Amino acid sequence: MLLDVCVVGEINPDLILYGVPEQLKPEEESLIDGFRLTLGSSSAIFAHNLAVLGTRVGMVSKIGADSLGKMAFDWLADAGVDLTRVRVASSGPATGLSVILAQPAHRFILTSPGTMFEFSYADLDLDYIFSSRHLHLSSYFLHRALRPRIADLFREAKAKGLSTSLDTNDDPEGKWESDLLDVLPFVDIFFPNEREVKKIAGIEDLQQAIERLAQLCQLVVVKLGVRGAVARKGSEEWRRPGMRVASVDPVGAGDSFDAGFIHRFLQGGSPQECLEYADVAGAFSTTCEGGTEAFKDRSRVAAFFREHIA
Ligand SMILES: Nc1ncnc2c1ncn2[C@@H]1O[C@H](COP(=O)(O)OP(=O)(O)OP(=O)(O)O)[C@@H](O)[C@H]1O
Ligand SMILES: [Mg+2]
Repeated sequence: MLLDVCVVGEINPDLILYGVPEQLKPEEESLIDGFRLTLGSSSAIFAHNLAVLGTRVGMVSKIGADSLGKMAFDWLADAGVDLTRVRVASSGPATGLSVILAQPAHRFILTSPGTMFEFSYADLDLDYIFSSRHLHLSSYFLHRALRPRIADLFREAKAKGLSTSLDTNDDPEGKWESDLLDVLPFVDIFFPNEREVKKIAGIEDLQQAIERLAQLCQLVVVKLGVRGAVARKGSEEWRRPGMRVASVDPVGAGDSFDAGFIHRFLQGGSPQECLEYADVAGAFSTTCEGGTEAFKDRSRVAAFFREHIA
């Protein structure tokens, strides 16, 4: 299969618990409103939704030889993602899992990284990756084994003529170490959210943080939740106000946004067009549970984009 995008990253399910009481009492049984077991992990949600939008996507990853890994694999296969380079680890840790506790005001995300911590440069089929047009990587700080070689991977991808994008997501250790700055010169589109852009730049002022990171990579695209997003290249800036939709949960909105952006980018869209497409994809993902449930209904996807893209 000729690939447009190769995603190097993690595959695991999300277990989302809805209506979790604000106060959990030790040793007592607490009742919740319901749950959804669905495809999780930034890389996999991005790959799934990008494939549904019509881009040819392949993933390079490692899962465990267990039912959670098989479930996540099957969900991705249903979306048409090429999974021929996903390795199944015969020993060692199992597939990871994130448990998301959704409370009215907050969400708590508890992640067991599983195979993600073992996934390393030796697991990558470089010929396969470099046969695609575009490389995307998510969850920078969670890729413990791969992280020391991510700068090499991006440098090689650029040398081979690929375009590249990166979404670090959160740093669970809260360190935001500067090795990331060695990767950014090889990143065409960098996708932090508001909190992440400030942490990475080490600057509390949002605008100054964006301007700083725009000096380090080609294009910085900052996700602002319900307030939409802003893109910056050098001293040029584009903005997109957020859309109003009936949201069920925000899980995976950022990854769906990234998918929308890259889909339009590879069609040759301008930064403003990419931002618009990304915002619609991010908003759409919040209309159903988890990061990919909305994207499973292709006719709903088409109708939503028809309605909201000018
Ligand atoms: N409630 C919402 N209503 C409308 N649009 C939304 C909503 N939440 C998110 N979006 C859209 O999705 C984009 C990405 O969401 P968000 O800012 O939450 O990203 P993120 O923090 O990276 O998310 P993630 O938790 O997936 O990593 C926003 O910039 C916006 O375009
Ligand atoms: Mg994010």
